[in-house]
Order: sequence, then C-alpha cells, then structure tokens
Amino acid sequence: RLLIIDFGSQVTQLIARRLRELNVFCEIHPFNTVDDAFLKDFAPKAVILSGGPSSVFAEGAPMPPQSVFELGVPILGICYGQQVMMHCLGGKVERGHGTAEFGRAYVTPSEARLELLEGWFLTEKEQVWMSHGDHVSAIAPGFEVYGTSPHAPFAVTGDVSRNFYAVQFHPEVHHTPNGARLYENFVRLAGFKGDWTMSAYRDEAIAAIREQVGDQKVICGLSGGVDSSVAAVLIHEAIGDQLTCVFVDHGLLRKGEAEEVVTMFRDNYNMPLIHADEQELFLGELDGVSDPETKRKIIGKLFIDVFQKHAKEVGDATFLAQGTLYPDVIESVSFSGGPSVTIKSHHNVGGLPEKMGLKLVEPLRELFKDEVRELGRELGLPPSFIGRHPFPGPGLAIRCPGEITREKLDILREADAVYIDQIRKHGLYDEIWQAFVAILPVRTVGVMGDGRTYDFACALRAVTSVDGMTADYYPFTHEFLGETATRIINEIPGINRVTYDITSKPPGTIEWE
Ligand code: XMP
Repeated sequence: RLLIIDFGSQVTQLIARRLRELNVFCEIHPFNTVDDAFLKDFAPKAVILSGGPSSVFAEGAPMPPQSVFELGVPILGICYGQQVMMHCLGGKVERGHGTAEFGRAYVTPSEARLELLEGWFLTEKEQVWMSHGDHVSAIAPGFEVYGTSPHAPFAVTGDVSRNFYAVQFHPEVHHTPNGARLYENFVRLAGFKGDWTMSAYRDEAIAAIREQVGDQKVICGLSGGVDSSVAAVLIHEAIGDQLTCVFVDHGLLRKGEAEEVVTMFRDNYNMPLIHADEQELFLGELDGVSDPETKRKIIGKLFIDVFQKHAKEVGDATFLAQGTLYPDVIESVSFSGGPSVTIKSHHNVGGLPEKMGLKLVEPLRELFKDEVRELGRELGLPPSFIGRHPFPGPGLAIRCPGEITREKLDILREADAVYIDQIRKHGLYDEIWQAFVAILPVRTVGVMGDGRTYDFACALRAVTSVDGMTADYYPFTHEFLGETATRIINEIPGINRVTYDITSKPPGTIEWE
C-alpha cells in the first residue's frame, strides 16, 4: 500500500485518483492521525506528502513524524510536501514576499537525468501548475536539482540514493498535462506492479468490515441509490444477516421505485430489509407547506425519527452503515465551518450516529463515484441499477414547487416515467447526468379535442455534469422534445403544457428547490 499524508490540499483526492488509474492502491490519512505507531502498523511501501494551505513557519504547522523519513521507503513531496521535506531534512524554506506563484508555469529540466522524469519532458519545457506562497531557498543535504522554473529554482529536486523526491508544482492536476507520468515513474521506482484491481479492493474491504464489526449488528439506511446499495451489498457479503437495511418509503418516490428496491434486496439478495411505509406520516407533515427549506427540514427530521423507530426492531445494533464517498469526506472536511452559504440543506442521515450512539461503517470512504459503480458491477449488481441517475433524498417533494398534494405527486410520477422512457428509447440515458420532470404550481388553459382544458404545466429537466456541482442543460433535438411533449400531454391526464428548462448551474441549480 501507498500512504498519502494529507496536509489539507484541495486536490489531494486527485493524487489518489491518479494512483488508482495506475492500479496502485493507496490510502489518504490526515497528517494529524499519522504517528510512529500508525506508520509501523500501516507499513507503507511508499509515501506521498500532499500539498496544503499552511506555511512551515506557522505555529503548530502540520508536520509528519520524523520517523517517516527513516522508513527506508520512497517519498514524494508535493508543494507544501516539498517544503516539509526540506524543512525536516535540513534544507531551507523562505516566506513568500513576492515569490508567490499561482497558475501556469514552465519547468526546464537540468542536464542530469532523473528517472522520475523519464518520458515526461517531451519538449524542452513542460507546463506545470504552481500554487505556493512560501518557497524552498536551499535544498537539503543529499538532494540535487533536476528542474527549474523562472520563479521556482527548485521545481524538481531529488535524492536518488534514498529515493526521495520533491516537486514545487502539482503533478496531479489537469493543468500539469503530463503529470501522470511523474506518478507512473514514482510508483515504478517504489516497486509497485500496478496489479491492484476492484476485485482486490472487494476482498480487502470485506476483511476490514469483518474485523471492524466482529459479531455486532449493523443497520443501514438504504435509499436505492447507487452508493447506499453498493455499501449494503458489500457489507452483507462480509457479515451476512448481522446487517439489516431500513428502506424508508416517504411517499415521494418515483413510479415503481419502492417495489423495485425491495424486490431486489429482499428477494434477489436475501437481505434482511425493513420496508418502512411512512407515506401518511411524511405527506401529512408536508401538507400545506410550500417553502423549499421548510420541506427539506421536515423530511430530514422525519427521516431520522422513522429510521430510529425502525432501528429499534433490530434491537442491539452498534453500527450504522453509510455509503459516504471520498468527495463527501473531503467536502465536509474542507468546508465545514467555512465561509460558504447554505444554498440547500441537503438531506442525509448526518447527526444520527451521535444521537443513537452508533459507530460508523463506511466502506466506500476511499472511493470515487465511478469506482463505486465498478465495485457495484464487481458485486454483481445489475448494470441498469448501477447506471441510475442520482435521486435526491427529499425525492419528489423538491420537484413539486409549492404545496405538495397527492394528486400532483401522482401526475408527476406518471409524467416522469414517460419522460425517462423516451430518453431510454432514444438511447440517451447514459449520456445524461440526471433527468426528471418538475410539476409546476400553475394551471394553464389548453384545448384538446373540441374541449377546453385547465391543467398543470410541467418542466422537463436534463443536465450533463461531472459531479453535480456545475451542470449544463442537455441539448435535445426539437424532434425529441416535440415527441416527448406530445406523449406526456396525450398519455397523462392532468398535464396540458410541457416546457423545457434550459438553465445551467450556476446560476440555476439542478433541482427546482
Ligand atoms: P442541486 O439541485 O443542488 O443538486 O443542483 C445537485 C445534485 O444533488 C442532488 N440533491 C440531493 N441529493 N439529498 C441528496 O441526496 C438532497 O437533499 C439533495 N438535494 C439535491 C440533486 O439531485 C443533484 O444530483
């Protein structure tokens, strides 16, 4: 295993990503959890010191234990990681003062060859991405300079005898176009074979879950989304019936969704599953509520209440399983207490573990979304299930602006089913990040046959996105839109007008509320 010691860079996750692409397994651990005992136990085959926002001069500056440099394994320091290495190994770091450098820069290689840079300098200089305030002013004994940039005389440094390398720039980001080569060389130098696979991850994760849980019981909130489903199947494979899933049906699900999820997990996977039908409760509490944040808060709170109530049926569970992914971990670490405003209160089961006195099992914490999908395939989940578009926790409540009524929900469910059917028929489902219908709180006049209609209007939404943080509307053809509008109006009583939402995010959001 390769150990990445995280000093808080926004892009540490990308280092992990680059390594996984090379089929090397790594784990990221925050600097303050890495001590001598941890290192001994982890026994890394190589270590990467990430970048970070601090200055080595700051009081209590993040530092690794000195023993990391005595493990006798290859080490690569990136940006702040480079400064840490120089600081700890006898070099010198100086404060910014006019030498800060952010953005594109060009590195020129020195005469001496460095294996780490093999195959990288295809031209005489290479574009890299810099982002640093302080800089190294004297390298540590044993190190040589292998590359410079106009503002970074020590852009690439290395001590070949110890296999220690340190670079000032960020090879993991997109703006260092050939940076992946540097990681490829580093892992080769460290003796990794590049034979890590998702199947190996599955075995490791199962062993880890067994060790963590022992003979205790685990409960898991199953939403039917990819993350919680993959987590549940993996944990079930590890500990069998010690796991019980709770599926909360809040009456805000899509057409056929509850049956689909329950059948799949209970019948196909033979998993103990509590199907909590709480439609009356949720829809009752939401009656007459039209403010989006109030809706979200009500649903979030009820979800926790209901989950807790049903968890009692399981009895003495000591663990709560969650499908937390790596980007979720990073977001909550980097941004909690940060200056960002709340656009929407996302619905999740946060707060539950403390409230119920449960410990967490989060077997997907190390993975990115596409890796979770791959793991899902590895576990035999049907491809159609794995490729499903994301569906928000508050469900149809936030696709029904204004007051929620059963009538509107029924119409919405039917219209959504037709729309998705159209998208599938035209082979567009996998090109789209997310597609759904929102039913609008307005009735409009139409004419059908020879009669007047006065029915709801709806909006179709379809976006492309990489991570849901930004999005663009999907450019359907006019033929597709026309055909879909005709089908919805003809097949669904209650809707007589269809619009297409062409707002990107930002300034819009993907969901309407
Ligand atoms: P927005 O509407 O904020 O949505 O652009 C971005 C992505 O997040 C999903 N979403 C949620 N997912 N709980 C969730 O699990 C929520 O409360 C929630 N709100 C929005 C949304 O569907 C989109 O994929």
